[in-house]
Amino acid sequence: VSVIKIKSNIRDYEVCFDMTGEFLESIKSIPNRFYIIDENVWRFYSGSLLAELKSENVIIQPISEERKNIESVLSLFDEVIKHAAKRNMTMVSIGGGILQDISGFVASTLYRGINWIFVPTTYLADSCIGSKTSLNYKSFKNLIGTFYPPSKVYIHTPFLRTLENTDFYSGLGEVVKLHIIGGSDKAKRIGDLLPRIEKRNMDALETSVKQSLLIKISYIVDDEFDVGRRNLLNFGHCFGHAVESMTNFYIPHGLAVTVGILLANRVASLRKLLSPKLEEHLAATLLFPILIRKPDKSDLNVGVLLEAMKKDKKRTGEGLALIMMKDGYEMVRVNDLTEGEVVRALEAIEG
Ligand SMILES: NC(=O)c1ccc[n+]([C@@H]2O[C@H](COP(=O)([O-])OP(=O)(O)OC[C@H]3O[C@@H](n4cnc5c(N)ncnc54)[C@H](O)[C@@H]3O)[C@@H](O)[C@H]2O)c1
Ligand SMILES: [Zn+2]
Repeated sequence: VSVIKIKSNIRDYEVCFDMTGEFLESIKSIPNRFYIIDENVWRFYSGSLLAELKSENVIIQPISEERKNIESVLSLFDEVIKHAAKRNMTMVSIGGGILQDISGFVASTLYRGINWIFVPTTYLADSCIGSKTSLNYKSFKNLIGTFYPPSKVYIHTPFLRTLENTDFYSGLGEVVKLHIIGGSDKAKRIGDLLPRIEKRNMDALETSVKQSLLIKISYIVDDEFDVGRRNLLNFGHCFGHAVESMTNFYIPHGLAVTVGILLANRVASLRKLLSPKLEEHLAATLLFPILIRKPDKSDLNVGVLLEAMKKDKKRTGEGLALIMMKDGYEMVRVNDLTEGEVVRALEAIEG
């Protein structure tokens, strides 16, 4: 088992990599524990890896973006206090980012915070160390939330075998994004790993997750509460969020981010901040190879894209904001993106 230690203003904790499933044994020595499990994870693993949990306190959660709200939290409060009305209880969450957000919010607010262990089962490699919990409110995504890290994270990459292709590649989009903002060495390394990652080779997956965490740590170490440098992790997201909503979520989040990076690189190249050579290299080796879903020409409407970008809550000041990469893999954030640049970037992508 290898371990990455995470420093947090709230509490320090460890991410443990465990290919064998021994983590279940460690958890079983904790008193007053109960489990909240993603319904699809339970469907896949209740007859195998997780079979021994059948005799434990388990709450199964249906998973959808529509359920990531305060109503689900309220009904979980009821379930949890029915199972174990003790302040010193431990919640063990096993599932993807949606389960993390719902159950993490419960863990952070119940009794003003209970002990929480998180076992991520999707390829959203890095979100487990962000300290963020988020709920959607009405039509606003992630509007409500808290900062609350788990006290421990166990990463068992064999869970990734059963992920559907869209979920898998969506996670890979974020992994690739992290490696690009991690600099040229990291970008090269993920490129070398890609063929094995796509075959879902366990060692390659684990390596990519570890590297993603280390890169993310370097961005949040001095900015846990997201007021400065951490914002650069949103590379690809300014256009990405717009691409998601324009395609009615046919393009999943991580792949929308991949398209977003292609567009941001185009703008950087138009501004002569990024050389055509590096732009082309990233597109050919890292971005296009993972785009298993591409937006249709008919989806990409400049007017709709601009409207979506203007609504983006990340916008600050008067102008449109964009995070771009310059030569040397240097990240910058600008607030003066013009509509003309958006039009030109889109035309290039379509062509
Ligand atoms: N809190 C944070 O820091 C943070 C960061 C990034 C994203 N998020 C949130 O996470 C959510 C997306 O998370 P996600 O990409 O993990 O997807 P997800 O939680 O929606 O899971 C995707 C699908 O995979 C299923 N699933 C989960 N594990 C599986 C497995 N091992 N095998 C088969 N199926 C499995 C789920 O039931 C679901 O149907 C979004 O709501 C996003 O806002 C939160
Ligand atoms: Zn993202």
